[in-house]
This record gives sequence, structure tokens and C-alpha cells, in this order.
Amino acid sequence: MDTTKTIWLPSQSSTIAPQIDALFDFILWASVVLFAIVTFATIYFAIRYRRHGDIARTTPYVENLGLEITWTVIPFILLMIIFVWGFKDFLRFHIIPAHAIEVKATGQKWFWSFSYADGPSTVGELVVPVNKPIKLLLSSQDVIHSLFVPEFRVKMDVLPNRYTLTWFEAVHTGEFQLYCTEFCGKGHSEMWGKVKVVTEDDFKKWLEAGSGPQEGESMRDFGARLFVKNACVTCHSVNGSKNVGPTFLGLFGRREVLKNGQIIIVDENYMRESMLTPMAKVVAGYDPVMPTFQGILKNVDIDGLIAYIKTLEQ
Ligand code: CUA
Repeated sequence: MDTTKTIWLPSQSSTIAPQIDALFDFILWASVVLFAIVTFATIYFAIRYRRHGDIARTTPYVENLGLEITWTVIPFILLMIIFVWGFKDFLRFHIIPAHAIEVKATGQKWFWSFSYADGPSTVGELVVPVNKPIKLLLSSQDVIHSLFVPEFRVKMDVLPNRYTLTWFEAVHTGEFQLYCTEFCGKGHSEMWGKVKVVTEDDFKKWLEAGSGPQEGESMRDFGARLFVKNACVTCHSVNGSKNVGPTFLGLFGRREVLKNGQIIIVDENYMRESMLTPMAKVVAGYDPVMPTFQGILKNVDIDGLIAYIKTLEQ
């Protein structure tokens, strides 16, 4: 599958990758050849015209029009080739096929989420069908991030208060790493995701299965699955230990003291509010760092998570 992987570059797993690599190779080898010519000439002239005692002198420099034209015209042609070639690739990269499947991708400190027009929302996992153009509509909840999938040669800045667009078409199934390539704070290096390229049939099944609990699955089990899938587990323990956020063990019905001194009893509405507007009521002793899950968790997801948390009794 990764047969196109070389010592220089990762596998070419999208339609645009071979084109990007061809231009890259051209620039690389043109530079190598020019470097060799200049270096060789420098060494050769240094030896050939080195000083011989006191007598020998090089002849005074005389203008050579032919030579000057040559070293102006050849680089000009070379640069124009790179410009025209690069501009064509740039257009290919930016003109999104009309029938592309649209996925909304959101970057925030420090994870990626993806939502599908008629399907689920995911955290850290972009699932796409093979051999279909995918349009990514990108935006950020906070600072500038950048989405990068090396195997696809796709990279695009992700900005707050503005949409950016990019697209790709994967050419074989498999799993690929997705990175953030804009330094966005202390969690930047962990702002990873996965791109899962699956067959069209599997993609359809996944879209259908993605919304709500699956057949035969209880709300509690559904919630437990979301707890891991949406990475709640990174900050909230279920065994009573203190983490970035309060433990979920015995959370329901617990008496909590908030940052402003107010005392609350954790109920369904508090849990819901904390998922959608985490800054509203921060428990004392914890930093206000929880990201909002607005637009990621649907109502049914919130119900599932609440059902799950309720089962975590002390
Ligand atoms: Cu987001 Cu770096």
C-alpha cells in the first residue's frame, strides 16, 4: 500500500500528491545541478588561477556580453518553468470539484473535530470514502491552527472568525496521521487526529451508525463510548482521582463549590451546561480550560453522557 513511500517523502495517497512531488523533485534536482556547477566552477577556478609567486597575474577583467546574457536567460527560463508549473498546481489545489463531499473541520485548543452534513460529529477522527473528492470547510474556535496530512500533501491554515477551504481525494484505503502545523500553545504537539479512508460502502454504514446509540446499545453504553470517543477521558477520571478536571465518580448529586464561592448540586442541567458552556460554572480548584462541545455533541450525545455519568456512583 505504501509502495510510493520514498526516503524523501511519505506515500502518495491522494490524487494531487504525485503532481506536488513532481514539482518538488524538479526544484530539488535543478538546485542540485546548479549547486554542483557553481561549486565545481569555484573549486576549478580557485586552483586554475591561484597565485604563482609574484609574477603571474590574471588578465584584467573584460566584459563578456554573451556570458551575461546566458546566465540571465537560463535562470529566467528555469524560474518561469517553476512559476507556470507551480501556478497550475496551485489552481488544482484550490479549485474544489463541484461534487465533493463536504466535511466541516474545526480546530481548537487542542483537538480537531469534524462534522458531516448528514452524519455524526467526531473528535480527532476524519472518516472519508476512498476515490471521492472531500471538501474541508475549516475554522477555528480560538487561535490559528493548521491542518496537515503529509500523505495527502494537504495543508491549510485554520483561522478564527473566517472559513478556509481545501480538498483532497484519497486513492487508497488506510489510516493516516493528521497534524496541526501551526504553533498554537502548550498542547500543540499533541493536537493530532486520524484520517480513516474506507470504502464507499463502509463509509455509508459508518454515517448511518454514527448518529445516536447503535441497535441494542443502551444509553449508558452509548455514553461510555462517547466518553472515550470525545476524549472526555483525557481530563476526567472515573475512579475518583483528580485530573485536569473533576472526577466523574460520584459526580451526579455531588455538592461542588464553584470558583465564585457559590455552592451547587450537580444535576442534569449543570452537566449539560458544563459540556456546552464550560466556563459558566467552574469548580473551585480547577483551571477554566475545558473546551466547549457546542456543535460537536448533539442532544442525544449529551443524554448518553449524562446517563453514563449517573451510573458512576461511589
Ligand atoms: Cu493547533 Cu498547533
